[in-house]
Amino acid sequence: MSPDGHTSIASTSVLVALGERSYEILIGRGLLAHAGHFILPVLSQKRAFIVTDANVAATYLSPLATTLSQSGIKTDHVIVPAGEASKDINHLAQVLDAMLAAKCERKTMIVALGGGVVGDLAGLASSILLRGVDFIQIPTTLLSQVDSSVGGKTGINTSAGKNLVGSFHQPRLVLADTETLSTLPRRELLAGYAEVAKYGLLGDAALFAWLEANAQTALALGTNDQTALIHAIATSCRAKAKIVAEDEKESGARALLNLGHTFGHALEAEMGYGGQLLHGEAVAIGMVLAFELSARMGLCSKDDAVRAKRHLASIGLPVSPPKTGPRGKITPEALMAHMAQDKKVADGKMTFVLARGIGQAFLSREVSEPALRATLAQALAS
Ligand SMILES: NC(=O)c1ccc[n+]([C@@H]2O[C@H](COP(=O)([O-])OP(=O)(O)OC[C@H]3O[C@@H](n4cnc5c(N)ncnc54)[C@H](O)[C@@H]3O)[C@@H](O)[C@H]2O)c1
Ligand SMILES: [Zn+2]
Repeated sequence: MSPDGHTSIASTSVLVALGERSYEILIGRGLLAHAGHFILPVLSQKRAFIVTDANVAATYLSPLATTLSQSGIKTDHVIVPAGEASKDINHLAQVLDAMLAAKCERKTMIVALGGGVVGDLAGLASSILLRGVDFIQIPTTLLSQVDSSVGGKTGINTSAGKNLVGSFHQPRLVLADTETLSTLPRRELLAGYAEVAKYGLLGDAALFAWLEANAQTALALGTNDQTALIHAIATSCRAKAKIVAEDEKESGARALLNLGHTFGHALEAEMGYGGQLLHGEAVAIGMVLAFELSARMGLCSKDDAVRAKRHLASIGLPVSPPKTGPRGKITPEALMAHMAQDKKVADGKMTFVLARGIGQAFLSREVSEPALRATLAQALAS
């Protein structure tokens, strides 16, 4: 049966199995325009408060408000500026104030409409508003559809660093509408794709081989057939959901999701967060470095490292670190200093995600400094 009796939406469902906090991710084209139908069953009051950003609001707030009102759901909303800067304590306060001014109650549903910034901010706000209310995510970037909408991490940034204040708060439902990706800047789309490739590289060689053959098709938005894109998103969500179900609060397996991120965070820190290097771009370079380090240490074949790099480059992602940043020439030492400060450092030792091959990532605390320095020096010289 179609959602509202006259429109059929081909959607795929992924269950994030977390006991009583379990929830479903629906992935399909055109879900947003019928969100009221999907949201209604999880409401305990016919009220929703939408949190979104200015870019997303311009195109998607009105269709969302319309479908919700057609389902008899009363809505209020707040719009924050687009961009990472909105993930701070001031905007958190602004969002909470707007929710309270609208007289949100314990049973009011919060709806995060936007990318990872809105998801993290609205998620955190809903976890503390009135000591915790339910929320739903409608992720509108590829990154948020395959990554931040799975697993319930919320957070904001402080002057001490990114995502250092936050909570674990699982959404009640996620609606990932692939149609929304058609308005996303291509560079943002590709940056999100880095996280898709990550799931193949870290634990699913068959997915990686499928992506080598089908990623171009999946990313060719504008075609009527989004089967490949929906498959790529669903497989990514399933991969993350499986890891999160094993390790909800990140004490073990969940760390594998950081493949490429220790290097990536160091590059982001060195480049500044002014948009010169997007997170996904840094992760793409970081994954290549993780494979090159693994090959240098004799853990995986050189061929696998080349294969990872070739695929990411073929999609249009950067695969070599930038040579200069706002502080001038980038050196291995500068990157290593950032890595030593990464929050994944435990007891003074850095944890790296290395690989024994495509789809075979593992955690290692035994990375020799000379091998790390040589890998960075070679990449920075190339
Ligand atoms: N909670 C988690 O588990 C988790 C995981 C990964 C990343 N994150 C967080 O996610 C954030 C990054 O998310 P992001 O990459 O989605 O960034 P974002 O939310 O800033 O979105 C990127 C840009 O695209 C715009 N945009 C969003 N959807 C659009 C659409 N459909 N059409 C046109 N423009 C659109 C936004 O306004 C913004 O300018 C970071 O803050 C990161 O820390 C969280
Ligand atoms: Zn990431």
